[in-house]
Amino acid sequence: MLDTTVLNQQRNFFEGHAAIWLFGYGSLIWKADFDFLERRPAYIHGWERRFWQASHDHRGTPEAPGRVATLIRARDSICHGMAYLITPEVLAPLDVREKNGYLREKVPLTFVDEKGNGIEQSEGLIYLASDDNPAFLGEAPLAEIAQQIASAHGPSGPNREYLVNLAKALRELGAQDAHIFALEKHLGRF
Ligand code: SIN
Repeated sequence: MLDTTVLNQQRNFFEGHAAIWLFGYGSLIWKADFDFLERRPAYIHGWERRFWQASHDHRGTPEAPGRVATLIRARDSICHGMAYLITPEVLAPLDVREKNGYLREKVPLTFVDEKGNGIEQSEGLIYLASDDNPAFLGEAPLAEIAQQIASAHGPSGPNREYLVNLAKALRELGAQDAHIFALEKHLGRF
């Protein structure tokens, strides 16, 4: 199976920093099973969230993969999520959690106030599954994506739970995301 753990250990964009802002846009928004010093709602500019990455290890299996979130470039868009201030040793277990095709990338992020308006910027880290990774599935009709999510299960649980929890977390953040909310509607049919 794909394993980006060793590659990520070499991607030390924040070498020497005592703390790093990690920006979560998928499961990292609603499943923060790691230590953090502080968390703040934030967005990144120039990206959109998509369920275009296969999950063989968490929300599906190699035989019946699930679908999980990644980001695609979209010049004028913003993607809302949650930023966590972490110490560098937290990256090792995150590299393992994100090993199925995600690579550490450095991005500018903007913290938001309770109305969702940008108030302050910082450099941050994301785990990105780009379109050249072997587990990238890419675009498909929303109904097909929802059907795949409805039927997939993996060691971390049902794929459905990932989408439902993400949609709920985005609503709690007051964030707009046409792709996610449309998928959630389709999921209700399966
Ligand atoms: C993230 O949540 O930011 C990365 C993708 C995932 O684990 O769902």
